Amino acid sequence: MEATATEPECRVKVELGPRSYEIVVTRARSELFGAFARAALARTWSGSACTQALLVTDQHLAKLSLPEPFERSLRSVGIDPALVVVAPGEAAKSLLQASRLFDELVARNADRHTLVVALGGGVIGDLAGFAAATFARGLPLIMVPTTLLAQVDSSVGGKVGVNHPRVKNLIGAFHQPAGVWIDLGTLDSLPDRELRCGLAEVVKYGVILDSTFFATLERSSGDLLARDKAALERAVLRSVELKAQVVGQDEREETGRRAILNFGHTIGHAIEAVAGYGGAFEHGEAVAVGMVAESHLAQRLGWIETEVVDRLVRLLERLGLPSNAPGLDHGELLAAIHRDKKNQRGRVRFVLPHSLGSVELTDLPQEQDIRAVLSIVTTTSASRS
Ligand SMILES: NC(=O)c1ccc[n+]([C@@H]2O[C@H](COP(=O)([O-])OP(=O)(O)OC[C@H]3O[C@@H](n4cnc5c(N)ncnc54)[C@H](O)[C@@H]3O)[C@@H](O)[C@H]2O)c1
Ligand SMILES: [Zn+2]
Repeated sequence: MEATATEPECRVKVELGPRSYEIVVTRARSELFGAFARAALARTWSGSACTQALLVTDQHLAKLSLPEPFERSLRSVGIDPALVVVAPGEAAKSLLQASRLFDELVARNADRHTLVVALGGGVIGDLAGFAAATFARGLPLIMVPTTLLAQVDSSVGGKVGVNHPRVKNLIGAFHQPAGVWIDLGTLDSLPDRELRCGLAEVVKYGVILDSTFFATLERSSGDLLARDKAALERAVLRSVELKAQVVGQDEREETGRRAILNFGHTIGHAIEAVAGYGGAFEHGEAVAVGMVAESHLAQRLGWIETEVVDRLVRLLERLGLPSNAPGLDHGELLAAIHRDKKNQRGRVRFVLPHSLGSVELTDLPQEQDIRAVLSIVTTTSASRS
């Protein structure tokens, strides 16, 4: 899983035996994408005879003409791409849109050698990935993530799926891609708020697995916000290395190892749900507050010093991310936490830090501890208590 710094790209391997694949981190080199796709496909039975692809993207990216160089590059290696454009936003992660992708595949006489390329954010990756996982019992998939969140998180690890009208991400599969092509150039057009949301997940990797990386982020917060390419490349590369390691250890979230990626998410999901999806808190912002709240929990258990919580709050604030959620109702937050699907046998489980870079899945926090930290993060001035 070590990155090899062979300019102009860096490669990270996700070690999953026969389902192993490569992640490339590159800067605006989409003319090389076709060759990467061809090589990635050649490592799979279904991909080696690939001559056509469904390239799935959303209207924002189509308007920015982002798909064009990728289409050209696929053609240059003998793969005929058909572009399918879906509406942007979470609503596209539906069975209805998946069904539309199936229709497009049928219309093109797709078979098990047809490649699906997901060019977009996490929504496109999850939707196109779900279609790839299920059509003809599995088509080869290549992820081309274009949001920072998708680059450091959703494109790696094989979780794909759509939403049930009442439950997010309920209908899905594990379907590892044949490869992931991360082009940092695609981030140029990403709105600032989306960039910051991706940075919340980057900070998460520092807290759960790598204190040195956390310190690097503290030093480079200004560069990251200014979209300095070298700083972004370091952050993306280290994040995908860490995610690849975790996925390699627990591909299907069965041993508890992969669960460490949920740091900040138990309370983060509750904040998203109570504030209303598409409301005041985007996912990354809710996770930022969730990480602060859960760090307070660890402090109450005596696992970490106040100083660690303070460093986290300072870093998030420097990255333009919230560290509290003033005004949200404690009772509603608590109820939402208890509804979360990660709860087992009625006890709420949290991923909490013992120090920067080391976390543990635990159900030790008591109801009064959870109430206390919810009170801290929903009170404006108390996030540094
Ligand atoms: N499968 C997983 O392991 C996993 C992990 C985390 C999140 N997710 C899922 O990911 C989704 C969120 O992903 P997201 O945050 O990338 O949101 P998103 O896919 O909705 O993208 C956010 C917005 O940015 C736009 N956009 C994307 N790339 C752009 C670019 N380069 N320039 C300009 N605009 C661009 C999109 O059109 C959209 O409007 C959620 O559905 C979540 O459940 C999945
Ligand atoms: Zn997340």
